[in-house]
Amino acid sequence: MNKIRTQLMLCGGTGCDSTGSEKVRQALVREIERQGLADEVEIVVTGCNGFCAVGPVMVVQPEGIFYQKIQPEDAPELVEEHFLKGRPVKRLFYKEPASKDIIPRMDDIPFFASQMFRAMRNKGLIDPEVIDEYIARDGYFALAKALNEMTPDNIIEEMMASGLRGRGGAGFPAGMKWKFAKQAEGDKKFVLCNADEGDPGAFMDRSLLESDPHAILEGMTIAAKAINAHKGYIYCRSEYPLAIKRLGIAIAQAKDYGLLGEDILGSGFNFDIEVYQGAGAFVCGEETALMRSIEGKRGMPRPRPPFPAHKGLWEKPTILNNVETLVNVPQIILKGGEWYASVGTEKSKGTKVFALSGDVANIGLVEIPMGTTLRTLVYDIGGGVPNKRKFKAVQLGGPSGGCVPEEYLDTPIDYEEIVKVGAIMGSGGAIVMDNHTCMVDMARYFMDFIQDESCGKCTPCREGTKQMLEILEAICKGKGQSGDIERLETLAHVIRRTSLCGLGQTAPNPVLSTLRYFRDEYEAHIEEKRCPAKICPDLVKFEVDPELCKRCGLCHKGCPADAIIWKKKQVAVIDKEKCIKCMSCYARCPFDAIF
Ligand SMILES: Cc1cc2nc3c(=O)[nH]c(=O)nc-3n(C[C@H](O)[C@H](O)[C@H](O)COP(=O)(O)O)c2cc1C
Ligand code: SF4
Ligand code: SF4
Ligand code: SF4
Ligand code: FES
Repeated sequence: MNKIRTQLMLCGGTGCDSTGSEKVRQALVREIERQGLADEVEIVVTGCNGFCAVGPVMVVQPEGIFYQKIQPEDAPELVEEHFLKGRPVKRLFYKEPASKDIIPRMDDIPFFASQMFRAMRNKGLIDPEVIDEYIARDGYFALAKALNEMTPDNIIEEMMASGLRGRGGAGFPAGMKWKFAKQAEGDKKFVLCNADEGDPGAFMDRSLLESDPHAILEGMTIAAKAINAHKGYIYCRSEYPLAIKRLGIAIAQAKDYGLLGEDILGSGFNFDIEVYQGAGAFVCGEETALMRSIEGKRGMPRPRPPFPAHKGLWEKPTILNNVETLVNVPQIILKGGEWYASVGTEKSKGTKVFALSGDVANIGLVEIPMGTTLRTLVYDIGGGVPNKRKFKAVQLGGPSGGCVPEEYLDTPIDYEEIVKVGAIMGSGGAIVMDNHTCMVDMARYFMDFIQDESCGKCTPCREGTKQMLEILEAICKGKGQSGDIERLETLAHVIRRTSLCGLGQTAPNPVLSTLRYFRDEYEAHIEEKRCPAKICPDLVKFEVDPELCKRCGLCHKGCPADAIIWKKKQVAVIDKEKCIKCMSCYARCPFDAIF
């Protein structure tokens, strides 16, 4: 008989893997055996738990005790104290950064408490490499329902009722897209999953692929039944080896169980899925470019119409959905569109996953109901801005997005409301920025990325983004000239209007949104040759203000060039000859004394 009384849900996602969770697993296995608990304590390696910043993380079930930053050396104490003697190890508990409160249970940690898990419902709860664990959490039940009890129209009706909008950026209603593809004439049709995830810093899709691969297969197969497709591709960037490995395992297991392939669940319906590895070009995430890439051609966008629902992969009717969109499908079919739509705002239903990063205490993946305010995201879940600094803006939507300043933090997360304040929902990147962020430099960073990734097919995008970048670089170097802001605006509007695909059409967004809220920073750089955030190295003097210096010596400790002269109780002095402008003293000084 199975005597397992404790399950250790150890995160094996990419983040925790890189901080050593595999070594922790090995150490735990050794200790569990050594202390004679192998029959009672089981280790389950899960996908990303969401709180990657404090990894490797582990949740002990059934109590729900959350351990963070575990090291292999912690294994003997954990096993003896907690699993043998029942005394959880407090020093590995989560500590709230602001209050310093120690919180033992995962559900009580504010980072998790305000979330609602739908797309991430299985994260940290199943071994993604074991199909039975997915099935045990109602996996493939929706597929059985869709294949045996529903017509394609029923499926599409549920999807329409759910109000689910594409999570890849544009927010087009999924049900509507499926309806167009179903109505399209074609001997062959395709279902594609966009797992390209090109936005810098985003890892929502990778996390879902790693933690719940069967949900994607199930969502795609339901979509296939809705439009009568028999072949699907998952387009995943090759930089995601763990995701690709887990997808491969999931596909093989699903086929083995008769849940994919020929005559699925004895219904007579056939559908097969292949993983296609992309080389990581940002533009290949654009739907028409992605399709060309699968066809083996160079991934370049083409004009629409014709839309992929009519002429997509190999000119056949095709639907392409983002990973997060597809992961939501099984539950919509199982619980109904109404259930899904019961959460959210009037036009944005359900939940949205965000990759919260930047100057925020709790970095990780969060899933929140649509309509939650940005303030809740940044402060209640994110824990606010650390190091006693001030919130400046939250950048949403990656290179196509914009930033939202303090005064609009009460904006509800909703596709239309976020656009009104100059940003976009995008795929879910949320970068929090404190008062040490230079907004011109931030705009320069995104423009650098975009001009590098432009496929070059159309001149305004190819040449225009380059010109915008050159202007931004000059401004950051203190070589800005009067008229630069106007030149940026003119270029932005031309590129927006005349580019062929979304990459060019949205490329100017970070510039326009920073100009909208932080125009004075551009002006300070250009007119006064001053960077108000003191970030642009060419505009920082590397001097210490004796009035502000509290003589603490923190700057001195971190200087890699030994360029700071400091003695106890004395004001620090920077030797400009030696200084290599690395900015580390500036980042370390708690009193903003270096200018
Ligand atoms: C330059 C560019 C890059 C894109 N990259 C992605 C991506 O990485 N992942 C994604 O799902 N959608 C991306 N999109 C959006 C897709 O073209 C498409 O709208 C989306 O995959 C459709 O799925 P959805 O309706 O479920 O959101 C990108 C669009 C553009 C213009
Ligand atoms: S807008 Fe840019 S990325 Fe898109 S097709 Fe034109 S050149 Fe290529
Ligand atoms: S910028 Fe870097 S090298 Fe220069 S004084 Fe500061 S820490 Fe030292
Ligand atoms: S860290 Fe700041 S306050 Fe402390 S000695 Fe250096 S300049 Fe002065
Ligand atoms: S990878 Fe472990 S919490 Fe994200």
